Amino acid sequence: MCGIVGYVGQRPVQEILLAGLEKLEYRGYDSAGVSVLAEGEIASVRAVGNLSKLRAAVLRSDGDAAQPQSAPVATIARPATIGIGHTRWATHGRVTEQNAHPHFDTSDRVHVVVNGIVENYLALKTRLRDMGADFTSETDAEVIAHLVSHHMARGSLVEAVRAAYAELRGHYAFVAMSADEPETLVGARKECPLIVGRGDGEQFLASAVPAFLAHTRDVQFIENEEIVIVRPDGVEFETPDGSPIEREITTVDWDESTAEKGGYETFMLKEIHEQADAVAETIADRTLRDDGVDLAEAGLDESLFEGVERILILAAGTSFHAGLIGRYAIEEWARLPVEMDIASEWRYRNPIVSERELVIGITQSGETADTLAAMRLARECGAKVLAVTNVVGSQATRDADGVLYTRAGLEVSVAAAKTFVCQVAAMYLLALRLAELRGTLPAERIAELVAEIRRLPARIAELIVSLDGTIQAAAERHADSDFYLYLGRHVGRAVALEGALKLKEISYIATDAYAGGEMKHGPIALLDESTPVVCIATDMPVLDKMISNMQEVRARGAHVIAVATEGDDRIAAQAEEVIYVPRTDWMLQALLAVIPLQLFAYYVARKRGLNVDQPRNLAKTVTVE
Ligand code: F6R
Repeated sequence: MCGIVGYVGQRPVQEILLAGLEKLEYRGYDSAGVSVLAEGEIASVRAVGNLSKLRAAVLRSDGDAAQPQSAPVATIARPATIGIGHTRWATHGRVTEQNAHPHFDTSDRVHVVVNGIVENYLALKTRLRDMGADFTSETDAEVIAHLVSHHMARGSLVEAVRAAYAELRGHYAFVAMSADEPETLVGARKECPLIVGRGDGEQFLASAVPAFLAHTRDVQFIENEEIVIVRPDGVEFETPDGSPIEREITTVDWDESTAEKGGYETFMLKEIHEQADAVAETIADRTLRDDGVDLAEAGLDESLFEGVERILILAAGTSFHAGLIGRYAIEEWARLPVEMDIASEWRYRNPIVSERELVIGITQSGETADTLAAMRLARECGAKVLAVTNVVGSQATRDADGVLYTRAGLEVSVAAAKTFVCQVAAMYLLALRLAELRGTLPAERIAELVAEIRRLPARIAELIVSLDGTIQAAAERHADSDFYLYLGRHVGRAVALEGALKLKEISYIATDAYAGGEMKHGPIALLDESTPVVCIATDMPVLDKMISNMQEVRARGAHVIAVATEGDDRIAAQAEEVIYVPRTDWMLQALLAVIPLQLFAYYVARKRGLNVDQPRNLAKTVTVE
């Protein structure tokens, strides 16, 4: 996720912004920039790469005689005491200096830093362009600078932000600064976090507390759908239509490492809690139409889908499980045959693949050696290759004919959680788009699925909050078990595989995961009274079969922990414990069903006192073949 920092006060702002951005490095970024305001002018510096590049560029522009002035860099004024900075993790547009923030309007009088996604940016861009705005980047964020500038023709910066906010759709937080109001920053929050840090004669704004923790521990949390006006002598909170809001000051006692984790005890827990936001970003502008999905973005030319007779999905680990859910969705909705294999197996199979096939390589890092090798091999055989990845500019994006980004932001925890749910969401979008192009679903069914996909972020948020305590208690009860079996059928099998992988990799407990129908062909011999068996029994066409499997498990005295759909009162009678997830379309239910299993694995591992963020023997990116 991108990082925002802003400052207004009495002290030189450059170092405060750079040091603040450095404290946000853990969030991941590929480019960065700062804008500062002095003597009625805004000066800006942006750089691709790590913050040392930005620091060097700021020094150069600040008149360091030892360094030659680089051509496109504006002069950073020395006396500036107000400014904004940003670290960007690319989602719309490539990793270039032009796409880095801050973005500015045509007259270079309004600068903004933005996190998140503006869903209706294309329509706004067209309108603003027709009115004379000169766009210089490929980003969605730049529309905010032009829009605020447009509204400033009739009012102050805060009035312009209010008017802009009313027109923007999406999931974002931004801070705006105008050369005409040298003592004011205005921030707006819609879903994405933004926090005020209170000082004496100086104030801070940031997307996370570590950015200003060296200066103050007094914070004011900006709630969803609020605007803040920040000046050296105070901060005003208001609703988007300008009604004032009172907000208390909270003193945080976090150390730096807790602050980086947003107050959570580990990155994994923080990232599990970020899943609603992450999925919202993945689907945002792709589900704007009620009647379908739009994937035509940089790098994804839909001619890739023309003439495709079969799909082959290749991946490793958790990404393979996301692919498995994608397979069921593509076959169910788009009626295209889909094969799957583990990348490290397929590439050594002397594989048969043709130009009539679309190969989808799923890899959150975009750098997994086996997946990359399999994608390259498929391409050499003439197949078209689509990469589904989280990292703009990663090797997978360079080795593919098209890219579908998952937009989960950086994941620090080694065990994949938010990148997984975003992969699943991206596969749902792809499956639905293929169904639309192939005409395999009635219009009403597509509309229904789009509406349900849009509701996923809210359902994820609700699920995590409501289940946290229940899952903690279940984990306490079962943390000492030394073997778990996970069972699922159809799409529930993918959920079972992922739940079991999460448990084994962070708690080091032996787990096995099976298709329910396979149980009596061997694994049933493992069951006794001491075995917890996690059964995925959410709504799906084969639920009755799954219920029979649960009965078989219980007949051996094993302990069934079921994951079921809210309102399904048949399951309680078949299980010792039931964890309910909100009802949605049965195919989408798979994404929701994984979340309690992530939490379960997490709390079991914590109960066993393990370092969940860095499990033994595992690396975040597996680049060695
Ligand atoms: C498990 C996990 C791994 C990865 C696998 C593939 O939590 O993170 O199983 O899913 O190493 O990695 P990517 O998706 O980067 O190709």
